[in-house]
Parts: sequence; structure tokens; C-alpha cells
Amino acid sequence: MVVKRTRSKVFASLLAVSIAFGSVGSVSADSPNGKSSYAHDQKVVARVDANRAIEHVRYLSEEIGTRPGGLEAEKRSADYIANTLRGYGYDVEYQYFPVADQYIANVAFNDGSTWEMGAAPNGKISTEAVEGQVLFIEGGTSLTDFPSEAEGKIIVMPRASSTSDYRKQVDNAVQAGAKGVILQSLVGSRGNYGSTFNPSLLTTYDIPVYGAAFIQGEWLKEQLEEGPVEISLTAKQYSNLQSVNVIATKAPKTKRKNAKQVILGAHHDSVVGAFGANDNASGVGLMLELARVFKGYNTEKELKFIAFGAEERGLLGSRYYVNQLTQEQKDNIEAVFVPDMVATNYDKAKNLYAMTPDGSTNLVTDSTMAAGARLGNSDILPGTFGSSDHVPFHQAGIPAALFIWMGIDSWDPLVYHIEKVYHTPQDTIADNISAEKMKSALDIIGAGLFSTVRKDIPGLYK
Ligand code: BES
Ligand code: ZN
Repeated sequence: MVVKRTRSKVFASLLAVSIAFGSVGSVSADSPNGKSSYAHDQKVVARVDANRAIEHVRYLSEEIGTRPGGLEAEKRSADYIANTLRGYGYDVEYQYFPVADQYIANVAFNDGSTWEMGAAPNGKISTEAVEGQVLFIEGGTSLTDFPSEAEGKIIVMPRASSTSDYRKQVDNAVQAGAKGVILQSLVGSRGNYGSTFNPSLLTTYDIPVYGAAFIQGEWLKEQLEEGPVEISLTAKQYSNLQSVNVIATKAPKTKRKNAKQVILGAHHDSVVGAFGANDNASGVGLMLELARVFKGYNTEKELKFIAFGAEERGLLGSRYYVNQLTQEQKDNIEAVFVPDMVATNYDKAKNLYAMTPDGSTNLVTDSTMAAGARLGNSDILPGTFGSSDHVPFHQAGIPAALFIWMGIDSWDPLVYHIEKVYHTPQDTIADNISAEKMKSALDIIGAGLFSTVRKDIPGLYK
């Protein structure tokens, strides 16, 4: 693998690390038993299987589908993860916590297919279906944009960018006699295609008002080119929700009180309407595959594999997990590895970043940078980013880092590139997963993790 861009500072530090740990592929004696770290790395690299990890991605994103925090599908995801971990021989616990209500819409087509969207809490929220023909209208902030045939139709409009303007669009559609309104989201907050959303309205309406992902609007347009499109709208307010963290524990080989602990944790929920193949079935798939490989190894530290719930609702699962720890338990955690979006096929996402919220380095970033250097894998780079489950750990003073593929322009570190299909219905295996990226992430994170937990005693390794 080659460093494709010139990042003199980072490249220099990579070189420094590779000098410290011996050159690429060498088997120099750098561990107490005379066995090299590189040889230990091979116990991970030779055994991790990207296709097994992607099979978990397939189950979560295709068999289960979208997994909004607190909903039934997220529970099914938890059960799948728990059963898999139990199958590998781990003890598994569930940790439940409350999450806020969700307003979710279901759009059904005559062929039986359905799409998930966000519903406006101030529109009609009912399981009693509103059925009608779709009419796509450009504009909508002026009443004159609506032809007389708008009467009795389900009107779809590209969403005006400001909230006050899209409220006008809804109001005008209602005045024009719409049976239902769907606003098509155009752009996302991270340069991605628009995601589903819950339209925020000031007036209460007795018709459904939904927020569609950009691609759902495009797909509706394509269908309309073929002829009339009939859809059926239902929505539900989901209340008293609980999300769930799934926690598997691997005891250290030699049981002793207060053995240090290392965590590998990935969120298993997705945003509404998104299949979450890369975000973040990929992180869960990587976690499960490393759990499988590590089961047979003796480790000196206690190792926890955790699937966090409701990350997309505000890092809720990881925050809950950290909040219920005692100070003594927090002090005992040496490192938290958080894979989140570890297998995109997006060509501009050239590096696997080990990100901390403030750019500081710690055991997690150091061990993975060192692993990359030993393996001759230059994909890994350090970086600064929050927005995932490493944040609550970091805020509690626990060393943690997020692993994510992205591109960062060397001339402006504030500009970053992630896949356009992030948080959309296009985050699928077909459109957004690369087996090569998954393998590289498995190798680097797996070897880094192993170097922090393994027991360096001769004879224990076959
Ligand atoms: N996987 C993303 C985090 C991410 C995306 C990091 C792009 C870096 C670049 C994560 O699942 C996410 O979307 N997080 C939310 C966090 C929020 C709900 C607190 C986000 O960033 O919007
Ligand atoms: Zn994520």
C-alpha cells in the first residue's frame, strides 16, 4: 500500500514509528518472550476474514434493514449480535436505556415495497392509510406553483432550504387541496445527499407531511416518467422507547482482581430510512469478526465487545454505558476502539483515520499507528473528530478513538470527504461496501487491539 498524498508531517511520524518497531515485515525481537510483535500481528491478519465481517453487514442491512434507535428492528439487530457472540462462546448481557419518541412514516407501493421516511409530528400521524396519486411539483413557495390537478393528490416537492420556506410549501400545498405532502431533502449536513427528516411545522395539519431522502424523491420522479404512481401513507408515533447495548466479556487468562480492561465498541443502529451498511453495520461486522478470532487467544486484559444502541439519536448508548460506570471502573479502562464506517467503497475516502475529539494521541491511536507501520499498511493516519461513541469515553478521561475511512485535504484539514450516500437509503452493500477496505481495517484495528491485550508468555501461542 502506498501513501497517495504528500502529508509530510504524518509521513515523517509514520517513518518514525516504523523505525521504532522494526522495518516492514521484519521479525525483530521486540517482545519479552523474544517473539516479535509482527509475528503476533500475523495471528490476527492471517485469520480475520473480510467476507465473514461483510456477511454480518448483509444480515444487519439487508435481512433486518433500517435500525432506528429504540425500534423493533434495532432489537432484532441486538438479538443477532448477541446470538453471534454467544455462538463464539462469550457471556453476553443486554443493557437497556430510554430514548425519545420517534415519528416514522411508511410509504407503501402497489408492488408491496415500502420506504421509511420521517413524519412531521404536527401532520397526520395515523396507521389509517391515506392513499393517493403522486404529483411532483417544483417550487411551491408560491400558491401559483400549484396547478388545479393538485387537488386530491399526494404532492412531492424538493424541500426549500430554509425552514420558514418549506413551511410555506406545506401550507400552500394544503391550500391547493393536497391529500398528503412529501418534502424531498436535497442536501445533508456533511455534503451527503439529503437524508429523511421530520418536517418541523408551526401549524397542525390533518394530512400527512413527510420528509423524504433525496434519492427517494428521485426514485419517485423516475417512476412518474413511466406513468401514474399510487402510494399509501401511514405513520406512527413510537413512545416509551428503549434502546439496548449488547455487551460480551472475555475474561483475562489469569483471573485477578481489577485486571485492566480494553473495549471494542461499535453502534448498531442506523438513521431512519438508511440501511446503514457502512454506518455502521461495518463497525459491528468488524467487531464480531475480531470477537470470533480473539476467542481462541489468551489475553492478559479483560476484553469487552460492545454494540452500542441509539448512537444516531445523540450517542445515547455509549453515554449511558459510561455514565453507569463507577470511577474505579472508568480508571480501569485502558483503551476504547470505536470502528464507525470502516468499509466504504468511496474513492475519496483514502485513509483509515484514528480520530480523537481533540487530536490527542493515546494507546488506541498509538497501537494502531504502530500496527500499520509493522504491517507496511500506510492506510492509517491520526486525526481529529468527534461525532461518535468515542466522545463520551474521551469526556470521562478514558483513552478512546474513532476509526473511519475518509479523505482529508492536506491544504485544509477542515475539509473532509465522506461518501455521499452517508445517512441515506443508498448506504447498502452494493453501493457502499468494499471488502478491501474492510480487510485493511480488520488488520490494523485487530493487530493494534491484540497488541494492547495479549499475554506475552512463551508457549501460549501455537
Ligand atoms: N458515523 C457517524 C459519524 C461520522 C460521520 C464521523 C462522518 C465523521 C464523519 C455517526 O454515526 C453519526 O452520524 N453521528 C452523528 C452524531 C450525533 C447524532 C451526535 C452525527 O455526526 O450527525
Ligand atoms: Zn455511525
